[in-house]
Amino acid sequence: MTQILDGKAMSSQILARLKNEVNEHLQKGSRAPGLATILLGKDPASAVYVRNKRKRADDVGIKSFEYDLPIQTTQIELLTLIEDLNNRDDIDAILVQLPLPTHIDTSTVICTVNPSKDVDGFHPENIGKLSLGHPRFIPCTPKGCMYLIQASKAKLLGAHAVILGRSNIVGKPMAYMMLNTDATVTICHRNTQNLRQQTKQADILITATGVPHLIGADDVKEGVVVIDVGINKLEDGTLVGDVDFDDVKDKAAAITPVPGGVGPMTISMLLENTVAAYCNHLASRNKHEAYPSL
Ligand code: GUN
Repeated sequence: MTQILDGKAMSSQILARLKNEVNEHLQKGSRAPGLATILLGKDPASAVYVRNKRKRADDVGIKSFEYDLPIQTTQIELLTLIEDLNNRDDIDAILVQLPLPTHIDTSTVICTVNPSKDVDGFHPENIGKLSLGHPRFIPCTPKGCMYLIQASKAKLLGAHAVILGRSNIVGKPMAYMMLNTDATVTICHRNTQNLRQQTKQADILITATGVPHLIGADDVKEGVVVIDVGINKLEDGTLVGDVDFDDVKDKAAAITPVPGGVGPMTISMLLENTVAAYCNHLASRNKHEAYPSL
């Protein structure tokens, strides 16, 4: 029987756990965790993502600080806001929704966020730590994929993980995570020759290409664990993944549906990172208070 990896259910469980954790801190008299979200412009998809992040944050007791800025906001104005948020004690986490308008240099923005508040895990320091096998904040989508892979009970040591897509947000951090768990990793991208030859070798296949139904039953081997990061809108409005779910399902040991697989995990991972940032900040403040002369 194929295991359907239900990201919606898993995400709800994680959110309930985070809510309890936050409550325990509040009952001890600590302030609430603070998450600042910055959205430039009115791109409808980004607006929906950010709205959901804020709503879920609120549900688990995280205080949301919301910055909806006009698309004309200058880079200097944005960097000044981020620096202000970096210096605030009531804000543990900062998220700048991507993509940013083209007049702003995304890399400069990412580098300006204090790495201890970078709950997206995009800052070079956090990516570097992950690549060295000492992660602090792991980017939310690959972290959510890892939870789903662990739920499949697949053996990772020595497994062959094939990743489709080499983005900084998904493909590269996913590859580091897989390496850190002793899998053998292949990363494929748009210039990879003979893709099927690669995907057929996968014990674990993670796809983040944005190409609807790129992967069918003939592209995978029996017993594969399939993690589909793709969320692609067809002309008739239906959402489908990079994987043809109905075609591949019976061949796979475990597979994520779209929607309801990786998508819902991303927000719970953001909030898990936010609660971790909050706990780190509380702990470092307590340490300073306990040893004021150090
Ligand atoms: N845009 C698409 N995915 C993400 C994400 O994980 N974080 C941010 N900040 N922007 C995104």
